[in-house]
Amino acid sequence: MIFTNPGRVILPPLYRCLAEAYYNFEFRSDDVVLSSYTKSGTVWCKEILWAMTHLDQLHLADHQHIDDRNYFIDKDMLMPFCAGDGRLMTERFSKECPGAKEEEGVAIQLAAAHTGSPRFISSHLPFSLLNPSLLDTCKVVYVARNPKDVCFSCYNFYSNLGNMETNLEGCAELFMKGDLVYGQYWEHLRQAWQRKSHPNLHIMFYEDMKADLISQLTILDSFLGLGINRDDLVRVADHTSFEKMKSREASIPIVRFQTAGGSFFHGGKVGGWSNNATADLDAKIDAWITHNSRDLQDIYFRYAAD
Ligand code: A3P
Repeated sequence: MIFTNPGRVILPPLYRCLAEAYYNFEFRSDDVVLSSYTKSGTVWCKEILWAMTHLDQLHLADHQHIDDRNYFIDKDMLMPFCAGDGRLMTERFSKECPGAKEEEGVAIQLAAAHTGSPRFISSHLPFSLLNPSLLDTCKVVYVARNPKDVCFSCYNFYSNLGNMETNLEGCAELFMKGDLVYGQYWEHLRQAWQRKSHPNLHIMFYEDMKADLISQLTILDSFLGLGINRDDLVRVADHTSFEKMKSREASIPIVRFQTAGGSFFHGGKVGGWSNNATADLDAKIDAWITHNSRDLQDIYFRYAAD
């Protein structure tokens, strides 16, 4: 891993080759961009955004990887050359980007070549590493999740990937130091929160989505100006339920894990951390939260399901 300077954002070494492409990527006014710290419900939101704009084609999700329907540009540095369904992406890449070099990014160059509208793009990179004109150009949805459950989700995800050689406590130490990929959780959130009154930014919370998805979809629909009726929002909620998304994972895995039986859809709950961390570890993370969220007093996170 490397880290950015300034910012100390921990990223894979390939970021060095792609940093300029990310920073200079040209967004268009009809793009819909999804931004999040990792493990905050990004894939859930990607599926929601796609479903809201493909109400008559929901069945396509049974066959097409989410990254083939939403350009996850970070995949070029996280899992080079295998954005989405690797084979399909390679075929699309040679057809849609003739002469382009794979090492300059498959997902990002496919996104740049995309002609349809809207174009869906997602990234975990903080705003500071994306084109500074992003928010003035197009609509951006930012999804946030409480830091305890983000940490617990990271632990399970990296363990399943075979990349986590420590227990939950060790993972939490790395997370609190900002030593997991994408760096400091608070800095990422702060960069979005500082921009919260920008008319092109809509911030959603994982916990609110879990508590009442239809209400959150109604607000999102109005932000996107789609005018979807309630029955269709109910269809979107059903299509993107944890159970349905997990069942589609059997035929189209989101990522390939080292651990047999590991699922991307681990628990999908509010409070996973609280049910698994010791009282001592919980006290440590509480102190860290208090210290780091002093200037974010108006963010209120729920740490347990209602
Ligand atoms: P858990 O690890 O707690 O299960 P990201 O997409 O940002 O990597 O976030 C992954 C987290 O979102 C995982 O959390 C995953 O289960 C959860 N998630 C994905 N789809 C979901 C859904 N439809 N409903 C609730 N949670 C979902």
